[in-house]
Amino acid sequence: MKAMLPGNAVGTDEPLVLGEAAEPRPAADEAVVEVEAYSVSHGEVFRLDDRLDRGGARWRPGQGVAGAVLRPAADGSGPAEGARVVAHPPALGWAERVAVPTNSLAELPDSVDAVTAATLSPAGIAALRLLRAAGPLAGRKVLLTGASGGVGHYVTELAAAGGAQLTAVSATAERGAKLMQLGAVELVTSVARARGPYDVVLESVGGDSLTTALAALAPGGLLVWFGQTGGAPVALDFFSFFQGPNQARIAHFDYTTSDATYSQDLSVLVRLVAAGRLHPEIGTVRDWTRTADVITDLCGRRIRGNAVLTVG
Ligand SMILES: NC(=O)c1ccc[n+]([C@@H]2O[C@H](COP(=O)([O-])OP(=O)(O)OC[C@H]3O[C@@H](n4cnc5c(N)ncnc54)[C@H](OP(=O)(O)O)[C@@H]3O)[C@@H](O)[C@H]2O)c1
Repeated sequence: MKAMLPGNAVGTDEPLVLGEAAEPRPAADEAVVEVEAYSVSHGEVFRLDDRLDRGGARWRPGQGVAGAVLRPAADGSGPAEGARVVAHPPALGWAERVAVPTNSLAELPDSVDAVTAATLSPAGIAALRLLRAAGPLAGRKVLLTGASGGVGHYVTELAAAGGAQLTAVSATAERGAKLMQLGAVELVTSVARARGPYDVVLESVGGDSLTTALAALAPGGLLVWFGQTGGAPVALDFFSFFQGPNQARIAHFDYTTSDATYSQDLSVLVRLVAAGRLHPEIGTVRDWTRTADVITDLCGRRIRGNAVLTVG
């Protein structure tokens, strides 16, 4: 079958090449999904670039796909042949077909198309889990950096629906325009313009963004550090932190660790989309032969929300 295979380094020509890969060999609890659309997330780009080294040879991305079940799981679990699904495979989803554990997929109603569904994984799942990590948000003041991205749009709408007063940080008003429609109470074009104090900060840009946002926390506030999209490491001075918000906390976050299965969280997200209560922001939809261009645009901050590639 055809698949996107890792090529040169990200940032050079051809970080991916369309080539031949072996057909999926599913375990007993895995279904084979014929991929109709997949998403490209920033975490996958970091991993493709070896910046998130979790061992093993060159990693083949693909953790957000939508399509139809070609072969149901041999153990009888999961949906039947032909069922339309959204799925979070462990990897390998940028391909014509992929094996997915049946606890990592959810069925789609007719009203949710494959392009929309593909954005739910991993961005929607990460957003849902991030908000669980943030704790109760009703009436709380929340600061979200990197808000115009795939995860950020989902966080904004879900947090607002839960009663949060969310300030979104985005490079430009245009990139952040949809965030106000999704329920943000304020949009700022620099984290330095955010007026605290905030009960919760959700930070994914790194560098000065994190240290500036940290200083805007309320006493006892929580900063969940979930990424470093900007690339610059954080220089954190103990004495500044010590003299900053009293008893503030910084939390580690890894969306792959959860007491819910991917199926459970995808089902929640699918239900919200079908009910018109969650509105995926899709910045671009292209043929999958243009995956490398999408990666370039994602890293160049030219995509608002999620990027989707269609297969076949
Ligand atoms: N810890 C976890 O488990 C977990 C899970 C999912 C995602 N993540 C991380 O969360 C972050 C957001 O993921 P995503 O998929 O939403 O990414 P994304 O779609 O690329 O969005 C990232 C946003 O960050 C902003 N940004 C600021 N500086 C940037 C720079 N130098 N280059 C590119 N973007 C920059 C951009 O908004 P403006 O241009 O408007 O500033 C962009 O919209 C990533 O760092 C990802 O690795 C972590």
